[in-house]
Amino acid sequence: MLDKHFSSKIFIDGGVPEETAQAKRLLGFLDGQTTNPTLIAKNLLGKEQRTKNKEQKKITQEDALNEYKRIVQEMNKIIPEGSISIQVFANADTKAQDMLSQGRLRYDWIPNHSIKFPCTTEGLKAVNVACQETPVNITLVFSQSQAAAVYEATKGAKYPVFISPFVGRLDDLGQNGMQVVKNIKKMYEGGDGHVEVLTASIRNLDHLMYALQLKSDIVTVPFKVFNLWGEGGFPEPGADYVYNKPELTEIPYREDILLGSAFTDYDLSHELTAKGIQTFWDDWNKLFS
Ligand code: E4P
Repeated sequence: MLDKHFSSKIFIDGGVPEETAQAKRLLGFLDGQTTNPTLIAKNLLGKEQRTKNKEQKKITQEDALNEYKRIVQEMNKIIPEGSISIQVFANADTKAQDMLSQGRLRYDWIPNHSIKFPCTTEGLKAVNVACQETPVNITLVFSQSQAAAVYEATKGAKYPVFISPFVGRLDDLGQNGMQVVKNIKKMYEGGDGHVEVLTASIRNLDHLMYALQLKSDIVTVPFKVFNLWGEGGFPEPGADYVYNKPELTEIPYREDILLGSAFTDYDLSHELTAKGIQTFWDDWNKLFS
């Protein structure tokens, strides 16, 4: 157990409360938790398989949503002061009003929630309203242009706003995902500081070290990486730390993308946002098929 604090807030990324408890025990504290439909579905599928009761009926949509709520409430008992991100269910056809209604139903699950909406046009329309009512987290962010839109859609927010760039999924395409975090931080330097950058889709210790060096406001660490970090005694990057990934293609800073336009004027399209929203949808709906 450490009596140590980092310049970034440390969240755990997962769908299993036991992991939350274990991570908190190891580190001595936890600032929060992120969840998503894939991670919660994985937890529920695991439970289903463990019952080994072939006669057991498939879980209903209502029961699955209640389970999501119960899991999040368990996490909240472990980190009562910590922010916990709860995602809405959406695919490419889901309208803003639907996402907003889902979000509102989640507000009273736990006091320290942050409602997660996808970085699509409809998602940002929902966020534009929700950020006046509750904390929000905009997920599936892969570009500087999307980050400019998030900033503008949430300007004047009454509650905390998190933006979640997914670094690992960009690396999977051979692109340097961490550079999106760096580019967003740089672009936001000219802003009012109302959006906190939450580095997500962390796959390895290098992602984590560089996110800490860049002073990402928040890092969300999957349990596997958490354990690796703990084995090394939870180090921070030294002053000489260099994130060197010559095998990944550069994502240069775009001087032409400026804050200050309407959120609807920015290019929100990204193949990984489209793919990600569909995968979250499919992983959740597999529970019922
Ligand atoms: C957290 O908010 C994200 O949903 C998560 O980090 C995604 O990680 P993945 O790209 O490994 O699925």
